Amino acid sequence: MSKTILVVGASRGIGLETVKHFAQDPENTIVCFARSFTENHALSSYSNVQLHALDLSLPNVNEQLQPLIDKLDHIDILINNAGYIVVKPFQELLHTELLTAYQVNVIGVMQTIQTCFPKLKSGSHIVNISSMGGFQGSMKFAGLSAYSTSKAAVVSLTELLAEELKETGIKINCLCLGSVQTEMLEAAFPGYKAPLIPEEMADFICDFALNASRFMHGRIIPVSLTTP
Ligand SMILES: NC(=O)c1ccc[n+]([C@@H]2O[C@H](COP(=O)([O-])OP(=O)(O)OC[C@H]3O[C@@H](n4cnc5c(N)ncnc54)[C@H](OP(=O)(O)O)[C@@H]3O)[C@@H](O)[C@H]2O)c1
Repeated sequence: MSKTILVVGASRGIGLETVKHFAQDPENTIVCFARSFTENHALSSYSNVQLHALDLSLPNVNEQLQPLIDKLDHIDILINNAGYIVVKPFQELLHTELLTAYQVNVIGVMQTIQTCFPKLKSGSHIVNISSMGGFQGSMKFAGLSAYSTSKAAVVSLTELLAEELKETGIKINCLCLGSVQTEMLEAAFPGYKAPLIPEEMADFICDFALNASRFMHGRIIPVSLTTP
């Protein structure tokens, strides 16, 4: 059945592969967001994919998104996948880095959901992408205090919104990803070889986004083979 799917953070890495996967079904319409898409971006050739600029690090996420969301009839799936990482000892973190981590990873997600809310309906599924670093009780790593605390906030947001949404039929869940070979992983753990490539994680995310909302709501799911 045709679906309207929004993917925030779709220009590369896991988000890019997630969009490619959804786009294989010509009935789907995939509305993609990132700060920028290069002229001959890998997604440009798909007729059922729309590419839009959105910068979650700016405070006016609602204003940036509103005109594009207004054009949609409804949203079946919203995947909040964009992420910002800063790797630094806690004492050296600048205020601007803390603000950017929380604006992109937490407040931007909240603002995106707020703006999309009128287009969500019973059966719609919000999938928040967090990290094992934000999963309570998981192994933690030095230098990731801004990133991992912000990802823990995404976990908490999912649980809180699940409560607010429970009468609406809109479902929300959160995937706490383990390591996947992307630019972000290389920034956090230079030289580390992850057990998964983005295509593999994207397969899982797509299947989860399409099917899991029938079975779960407000769940925080670790999706990890190894640590990190
Ligand atoms: N890779 C891993 O091992 C791993 C592990 C745990 C969790 N995760 C999570 O999985 C998600 C995807 O990660 P990834 O590894 O695929 O990262 P990535 O390759 O660095 O891609 C990040 C995506 O987020 C977008 N983005 C970054 N800043 C943005 C901003 N200010 N506004 C809008 N979009 C922005 C990027 O697009 P532009 O730069 O073009 O804006 C890009 O499309 C993230 O939420 C990350 O925290 C990844």
